[in-house]
Formats: sequence, C-alpha cells, structure tokens
Amino acid sequence: MTDRAPLVELQDVSAGYRGRRVIDGVSLSLRAGELTVIVGPNGAGKSTLLKLMTGELAPGAGRVLLGRQDIAHLSPAALARRRAVLPQSSALAFPFTVAEVVRLGLEAGGRRHDPKAVARALARVELEGFAGRFYNELSGGERQRVHLARVLCQIGEPVEAGEPRLLFLDEPVSSLDLRHQLGVLAIAREFAEKGGCAVAILHDLNLATAYADRLVVVAGGRIDADGTPATVVRDNMLRSVFDVTLRVGVVPPAGVPFVLPQSERRG
Ligand SMILES: Nc1ncnc2c1ncn2[C@@H]1O[C@H](COP(=O)(O)OP(=O)(O)OP(=O)(O)O)[C@@H](O)[C@H]1O
Ligand SMILES: [Mg+2]
Repeated sequence: MTDRAPLVELQDVSAGYRGRRVIDGVSLSLRAGELTVIVGPNGAGKSTLLKLMTGELAPGAGRVLLGRQDIAHLSPAALARRRAVLPQSSALAFPFTVAEVVRLGLEAGGRRHDPKAVARALARVELEGFAGRFYNELSGGERQRVHLARVLCQIGEPVEAGEPRLLFLDEPVSSLDLRHQLGVLAIAREFAEKGGCAVAILHDLNLATAYADRLVVVAGGRIDADGTPATVVRDNMLRSVFDVTLRVGVVPPAGVPFVLPQSERRG
C-alpha cells in the first residue's frame, strides 16, 4: 500500500530573487504514487517552484517539508539520496564521455560505480552504443536523454528501503522527438506507478493531460488550478492563464481533454 502522507509539503511559501518576489504564498503537497505535471506561461515561476520543492532554493517565507523534516535541515547527501532533479538546462565544462556523465548520477546518489547500472540507464533512454561518445558531440535531444539517464542512475528504484523516492523533471521533453517524448513520460509514469513521486514541468498541454494524474497550473507565482486534467483544462483557463482562445476537446472513451490550435492560413 502506498503511504498517502505527503512526501513534500510547501506551507505558504514565498520566494524570489534579489528581493523580487516570484512565488507568492504557495501551499502544495505531493504524494507517492502520483505523476504531477506543472504547466504555466514562461516566467510564471514553475522552475522556481520546482527548486523550492527540491531544496535548491530556500523560501523567503513559509516552510518546505520533505517527509516530516524541514528540507533546509537535510544534508546535500541525504537530499541526493531521496530526490533527483533534471534541470531545465545543463552545461558541462569538460569533455566528458556519455558514460562518465551518467556515472556522475551514481556518485551523486551515493552509489557504487556499476557499469551495468550505467548501461541499463542508457538503454532506458534508447542510447545503447553511446557510452563512449563525447557528450559535447551529441545532438540536443541526445544530450537531454543522457542527463535523464544520469538522473535515473542517481535515484535508482522508485522505492528503496521502504522509502518512496522523488523524481523532478524540468521540461524533460523540450528537445525530444515525439517517440522520445512519449518514452520519457512513460518513464515518469512508471516511476509513479511503482510507488515513487514524479513531478514534470511541461509546455505541451496534450502530453500533460495524457500522462498526468494531477495537473498544477502556475501563473504569476501562484497556483491557478490544481486537479485532474479533466477538471483543470478548460476554455476559460486557457484564456485567463495562457491568453489564447482555443476550444478544449475530449478524447473518448477515457474523457482526456485535448487542445488543438486552428490553422491560421487563409484560402
Ligand atoms: N536566478 C535568477 N535570478 C533572477 N531572476 C530569476 C532567476 N531565475 C528566474 N528568475 C525570474 O523569476 C521568474 C520566474 O522564473 P522561472 O524560471 O521560475 O519561470 P518558469 O515558469 O520556469 O518559465 P519558463 O517556462 O520560461 O521556464 C522570471 O521572471 C525569471 O526572470
Ligand atoms: Mg522553467
């Protein structure tokens, strides 16, 4: 049975950068067994919210709990064993091979070097045969998948020693072709279904509605909507949050909502 107590809890959290408030009084709980997708406009505060959940950014006001502990009191090593983060962008200063980048995940998670774990993670993101290639000679989508393999090596299994792990993905499919977009979201889903807690920031609302158990809409540093995709994705939300006029359709029989822009071409 999945423990339904919150794994991560934001209690009335505000935060920002150099005195400018970006997150404004947000309360939110994440549970094991759920894939939560966060959507919202550019600059809304999604990545900042993620950084608060992962302990990378300290709140200016309010508290962030991981389990029952204040996240600020956990050591970096303890934090790295419990949760792994795929950042929105990653730069590497040295000419690492793919295997070396993925191995960094094992080290971050306090795990022993294990070439089989590296190979498994690379296979998981369909990068078999890439281990010896140089990271900085890869395409954008290949690089993004290398980092996901690194993060998967760090976090290991969704539940270890009876404790659910957390996987945070900030725009994990932004450089990927359609097949790999679906592959990466299937990994996040499986992580949640096996008892972990998965959070992904996405811009593609159709991917979000297809994969999310729960959809959180962030706008202007606050949570505008939070619920199942069917309750959250509505014409008026698209208008008020994204400033677009689009009709929401529904895919039968499950009733999953979808949005499709109309062609702007004339004649
Ligand atoms: N390190 C930083 N220093 C100063 N301001 C920042 C920093 N990071 C983000 N901001 C600002 O905070 C606001 C929220 O940024 P954030 O990265 O959380 O947005 P986002 O919702 O993830 O957007 P996007 O969809 O473009 O990734 C933006 O106005 C941004 O310019
Ligand atoms: Mg962002």
